[in-house]
Amino acid sequence: MSLAGDPIPRSEGEDPPFSARLLDWFDTHGRHNLPWQHPRTPYRVWVSEIMLQQTQVSTVIGYFERFMARFPSLEELAAAPLDAVLSAWAGLGYYARARHLHAAAKAMAARGIPDTLAHWLALPGVGASTAAAIMAQAFDQPATILDGNVKRVVARHAGIGSPIEQAATIHRLYDCARAYTPPNRSADYTQAIMDLGATVCLRSQPHCLRCPVAGDCVAFIEQRTAELPARRVRPPVPLRPVRFWWWQRADGRVLLERRPASGIWGGLWCLPEIDGLRVNPQEALPTAVPIPERMLPPPRPSQSHGRFAHRLTHFLMQGEVFTAPADAPLPVATDALRWLAPHEWADTGLPKPIRHYLDAQGMPLRETSMHDHGSL
Ligand code: ADE
Repeated sequence: MSLAGDPIPRSEGEDPPFSARLLDWFDTHGRHNLPWQHPRTPYRVWVSEIMLQQTQVSTVIGYFERFMARFPSLEELAAAPLDAVLSAWAGLGYYARARHLHAAAKAMAARGIPDTLAHWLALPGVGASTAAAIMAQAFDQPATILDGNVKRVVARHAGIGSPIEQAATIHRLYDCARAYTPPNRSADYTQAIMDLGATVCLRSQPHCLRCPVAGDCVAFIEQRTAELPARRVRPPVPLRPVRFWWWQRADGRVLLERRPASGIWGGLWCLPEIDGLRVNPQEALPTAVPIPERMLPPPRPSQSHGRFAHRLTHFLMQGEVFTAPADAPLPVATDALRWLAPHEWADTGLPKPIRHYLDAQGMPLRETSMHDHGSL
């Protein structure tokens, strides 16, 4: 048995290393029948990892199987129209993932499917943890993943108590996770640590008595599982309601307004704010000119189109979007006002919650609702 994955110098009589205990546990208790494990090709692993980025395994399984039936190979995915990919994705939410998937498929069809971490990282939609998960699962290469579940396992086991959002904490977690990673059985080990996080090391009420690494888990020994991983304590912030217009033409285009260069979301394209923007004549960018709807009567509750919440540094925005009256004259496009079609949203600089809001409108909604897309 290799000790290379163990961060702690060992002597006779001690427990086997973290990875060995975890792999033993995985052989009996891990998930061995996930659809992307049979066959475990780079194409299938990649698609599954993109789907799993913001979605639970139980939801992904059905989508993955249907997606593979529709696009059995990289070439078929790359050759498909984006609309077909988006429609196979409909209901999974976070549609930027599907657009990135399609763009990456085209790049791979032209240049070949990567087999190094650096080449995976260069593809749209593939971040550090996803690239590592692909290298480990599809190529059995030792690579360190650090998704949300793994952060929790490592923070508890190593007793890392600093706030998990901080860059310094993430560095420490990576160092520990790297030290735990064994030099072999990389695919199994990666699945094992994700499975441990998903089935045993739960956020609340973890099953420590069933955990193969509880013996030297700092959080278990010190009875600190409830407080680890620690979150930054943020002082309560004031709430600020902000109202927007939803103005959509019969051809599907939606009215967006460029925000003034300074202030919240400076220079980004946004749904027009009902109560108007403070326009500074010295702004470098063309700023919102008064548009007819600013002179419209205030919206009634029956015009409510949707809501979102978004945490900014100094306040919590409570966004509410109202449908513009059907009989109001359509505003004319200017430098600071544009009617954008859904396929143009991806390449437009939009604030994150507005992008989520628009994305949630672009597709028939099954599992997600637009109210889930507010980022708090
Ligand atoms: N989350 C991300 N990748 C995963 C995988 N392969 N299995 C379970 N959860 C995951």
